[in-house]
Amino acid sequence: MTSVPQSAPARVVSNRRLNPEIHELVLRLPAEWGPPEPGQFVQVECLPANPFILKRPFSIARSRLGDLGMELHLVYGAIGPGTEALTRRRPGEMLDVIGPLGHGFRPVPGRRPVLIGGGRGVAPMIALADGLAPNYEDGILIFGARGSAQLYELEEVPYPVTIATDDGSVGFHGNVIQLLEQLRGRGELRPEENALYSCGPNPMLHALSDWAGEHGFPCQVSLETIFGCGFGICAGCAVPVHAAEGEESDEFGHYRFACVEGPVFEGHRVDWEGVKE
Ligand SMILES: Cc1cc2nc3c(=O)[nH]c(=O)nc-3n(C[C@H](O)[C@H](O)[C@H](O)COP(=O)(O)OP(=O)(O)OC[C@H]3O[C@@H](n4cnc5c(N)ncnc54)[C@H](O)[C@@H]3O)c2cc1C
Ligand code: FES
Repeated sequence: MTSVPQSAPARVVSNRRLNPEIHELVLRLPAEWGPPEPGQFVQVECLPANPFILKRPFSIARSRLGDLGMELHLVYGAIGPGTEALTRRRPGEMLDVIGPLGHGFRPVPGRRPVLIGGGRGVAPMIALADGLAPNYEDGILIFGARGSAQLYELEEVPYPVTIATDDGSVGFHGNVIQLLEQLRGRGELRPEENALYSCGPNPMLHALSDWAGEHGFPCQVSLETIFGCGFGICAGCAVPVHAAEGEESDEFGHYRFACVEGPVFEGHRVDWEGVKE
């Protein structure tokens, strides 16, 4: 069941650097907050009391209900003013969080899961592995990155992790599509047995959706588009999609609010030509 989004005060438990580009923020929220579904996100107050910095969206990398409340793990890159400010938040400080928001991943019944995270996009794959593992024991997680500087250790993930790097510095030498193609060629991946779930840069999700479509794999992708409000008011996150069978077009074409109807979409429904890459 999808939980109702709630605005809540969150205490910073820790905020540390995982590698030169990636940080991990652990927040503690009231015990009654959530619980989030894998693939959902939160809007986080990055710079308190600055009205020009909107809350920023982050995928939930892990959630755990403990004696002291609901702990959320977020994994983020410092790429602009909001995320730069986030790196300066210290344990004990409070910030405001809205969520859980959006529609997450929907498990495909009976299919062995293949989770594919590109760079920072591996974050929701951790939450998805935690969520799927009790019912789907034999999943795998592929972590793709440009090179070793973009990797970090994935702790306590219930599935075996395979690393692919573009420069070959760690693991498979090549991108995640080349790795998937190799696994398919060896008969280790089959369209009638597996389902693909992914988050990462849009060009990767586009290529993956095309590859999955070509070979007949079900494939869900979590899109990162530019968000404003995060809950269906500003229209800042509209994503073009192909019409479903039998669906009538309207004067606005087929757009979906990624913050409400996504961020997870079936890869083949996204009109990739209209998505910023
Ligand atoms: C559903 C969702 C989940 C996300 N999860 C994570 C996460 O787990 N970890 C993480 O590090 N980031 C995540 N992001 C992206 C994150 O929200 C942005 O990096 C952040 O908002 C940037 O804010 P800023 O103020 O630091 O930089 P800004 O000044 O807002 O942006 C800096 C630059 O990055 C570009 N940019 C901003 N947002 C995005 C985006 N969503 N996609 C592509 N380019 C963007 C801007 O156009 C600009 O060029 C997610 C985004 C969405 C929509
Ligand atoms: S971000 Fe405002 S409607 Fe989606």
